[in-house]
Amino acid sequence: MINKTAIYPGFFDPITNGHISIVSRALKIFDKLIIAILKNPQKNPLFTVEERIHMINQSIKTEGNVEVDTFDGLLVDYAVKKESNVVIRGLRALSDFEYEFQMALINRKLNRNIQSIFLMTDYKWFYTSSTIIKEAASFGGDISGLVPKVVNQKLKEKFGYAKKT
Ligand code: PNS
Repeated sequence: MINKTAIYPGFFDPITNGHISIVSRALKIFDKLIIAILKNPQKNPLFTVEERIHMINQSIKTEGNVEVDTFDGLLVDYAVKKESNVVIRGLRALSDFEYEFQMALINRKLNRNIQSIFLMTDYKWFYTSSTIIKEAASFGGDISGLVPKVVNQKLKEKFGYAKKT
């Protein structure tokens, strides 16, 4: 175990089982993980930041080794603020590579001390993303098994397929 804190940034709109797979893998290497939600109103998220934090907290069992936080501005500046120099990103199929490569290189250009580390999500979730799951859920598709129970319920509520809890 490397005695370090790593940052796992993203929109998490909403958190999926693919994200959770990355969290558990990261915690096998790092002893603390900060899940950092980008606050970007331009992206027009489905869930508010508060809803996203709530779903993450409900979905991840922590032993005090996971912090859920928000940030805006540059990721590398946020990492410095949190005294971390590691950014974790999940990799799925080939389609992620180009974007992740670009992000890793621009982040490196902006701050050479920040290292990007890529972890592969479990093959079961290789084809999923928050976007595709939201699309399936919006048409009433069964997305159980792809997201935590709380997220499944919240998606049904958002799209009018379930009563609010
Ligand atoms: O959930 P996503 O879409 O994979 O997350 C992308 C995210 C939030 C990690 C990325 O957009 C980001 O880091 N944004 C913050 C601004 C920034 O630092 N951009 C890269 C350098 S221009």
